[in-house]
Amino acid sequence: MNSFKIKDLEVKLPIIQGGMGIGVSLSGLASTVANEGGIGVIAAVGIGMKEPDYKKHVEAANKIALKKEIIKARSKTNGAIGVNILLALTDYDSLVNVAIEEGVDIVFVGAGLPLQMPANLEKYNTKFAPKISSPRAAKIIFNHWAEKYNRVPDAVVVEGSMCGGHVGFKKVDLINRSARPLIDIAAEVVREIDHFQQKFGIAIPVIAGGGIYTGSDMYKIMQVGVTAVKMGTRFVTTHESDVSIDFKQNYINCKEEDIVIIDSPLGLPGRVIRNAFVDEILAGKQRPVNCQWRCIKSCDFRNVPFCIAEALLNSTKGDFENGFSFAGSNAYRAKEIISVHETFEQIKQEYYQEKLFSESKAI
Ligand SMILES: Cc1cc2nc3c(=O)[nH]c(=O)nc-3n(C[C@H](O)[C@H](O)[C@H](O)COP(=O)(O)O)c2cc1C
Repeated sequence: MNSFKIKDLEVKLPIIQGGMGIGVSLSGLASTVANEGGIGVIAAVGIGMKEPDYKKHVEAANKIALKKEIIKARSKTNGAIGVNILLALTDYDSLVNVAIEEGVDIVFVGAGLPLQMPANLEKYNTKFAPKISSPRAAKIIFNHWAEKYNRVPDAVVVEGSMCGGHVGFKKVDLINRSARPLIDIAAEVVREIDHFQQKFGIAIPVIAGGGIYTGSDMYKIMQVGVTAVKMGTRFVTTHESDVSIDFKQNYINCKEEDIVIIDSPLGLPGRVIRNAFVDEILAGKQRPVNCQWRCIKSCDFRNVPFCIAEALLNSTKGDFENGFSFAGSNAYRAKEIISVHETFEQIKQEYYQEKLFSESKAI
């Protein structure tokens, strides 16, 4: 397992912890992952929801909370810290600004194609990585940046259909398990990005995530030219993840068949752990939404059946009557809550075992 670079940012291990809102990955998890040598990522979505007066001053609360979490993370580590921001958020620009001005190492952007380069990106040394689910989406973003800015994003995350949270694939393909495998998409993205590496004479790491749970998964996907992996679900059941113990226990108690797909008000399918609330949604029931602020640009808050932000916040606090957990397809595999350090040790061991096995097969 080698170190890798995103421009001048040197990262000891090719493991990136996926940003997990609302309040699953904050400074606690991110700084611990960074201390282990990976990139620790703070999720910006809904980050201000625990601030006083949140509902009256949402944008300000989110900015304050994000700044606090970045400062807290920095006080605990000298390792690499990133922030994950959804393009779909109403205050996307303001959150990107805070992250860049606070000097985070990298901003990861999900839920949309970030065609616009953040205004102050060039002024600071923050790296920028969009998250996509197809080679076509990568090509659109990279071509647009190349033409408009004569530069391209510093890395790209390709996320497969088994990921936790919002999923960039058609619901029918998720339910029928007919989406293209991540390894095939990743190999194509690597080829697509190589064109831009040649054109700009730089290395652009391709990072793969979504269903990468073990070091063995990691080793296999890296054989198609992926530089690093991004793992979300695996880090939820660590002592250091920033959610309630009930949320972690919900992962440990769930079975494979409990992990289902719902329609999220964000306009994408979402993967969640089934409970009575989820069954209500699946049955088409409505929960009244009292929205003072539309946190997602596209949310038709007067007509959506439930508020995704409230539901996720409630679950992170352990209230599963009024909420549910986002989870990756592999969430049922966690058997106990362990430390981030133990998780890294297990991943390394699994990786080297797979490497030995693959090399012995090749002889
Ligand atoms: C509980 C949970 C919350 C998540 N929240 C976000 C988020 O706020 N923004 C985002 O871009 N991705 C989010 N994700 C996706 C992760 O960042 C990561 O890309 C994904 O979990 C990788 O797939 P895996 O869970 O199979 O490892 C979330 C995933 C989980 C499990």
